[in-house]
Amino acid sequence: MDAMTLLHERSSMGKLMGPPPTSEQREAMYCAALRAPDHKELRPWRFIEFSGEGLDRLGELFAEAEFREDPHAEDVVLDAARKKPKRAPMIIAVIAKVTADEPKVPRVEQVISAGCAAHGILLAAHAQGLGAMWRTGKYAFDPTVRKGLGLGEEDELVAFLYLGQLGGRHRPLPEHDIDDFVERWD
Ligand SMILES: Cc1cc2nc3c(=O)[nH]c(=O)nc-3n(C[C@H](O)[C@H](O)[C@H](O)COP(=O)(O)O)c2cc1C
Repeated sequence: MDAMTLLHERSSMGKLMGPPPTSEQREAMYCAALRAPDHKELRPWRFIEFSGEGLDRLGELFAEAEFREDPHAEDVVLDAARKKPKRAPMIIAVIAKVTADEPKVPRVEQVISAGCAAHGILLAAHAQGLGAMWRTGKYAFDPTVRKGLGLGEEDELVAFLYLGQLGGRHRPLPEHDIDDFVERWD
């Protein structure tokens, strides 16, 4: 796939099956992530890879978050939380590891850089014929989940990237009119 086709046609896939990406495929994805633009080379990125029992552990964290939020939560709610990570054979959490005392690179720039890293992973997944879906949901902002994944106070959980083999067909690409988004100061 040539670069322009990839950039123009990447799309998400929510239906994902095993097996998880191979180590070579993962390496290619991380190499793409690490080419994210990075002001002052702070490398404000941290990735956590979940597969196998790691997905169960992440699901337990989600259930714990539900329980902390509502100690009367019914089992069905806790079970639904537990199962969420099982929607893919692999998840990569992308964390913005923010350096707070860096006056030239405000927090927002570091978070954006981590977002670019996440996009790099999506693009590299798509280029390799894998399916991928960027999710956050309330757990990405939940204090129990943040603590369980070792986020610092300034850090941001930017993405849970669900990854695997395509379990369905890509949706047709939306058609946009570029002029709806672009102003030109000629
Ligand atoms: C920061 C961020 C968080 C997102 N979180 C979710 C989410 O929790 N659930 C979801 O269904 N889609 C979420 N999305 C959107 C999907 O990843 C996807 O981009 C969207 O469904 C459009 O599909 P496309 O990527 O094929 O255009 C999120 C996107 C971004 C950028």
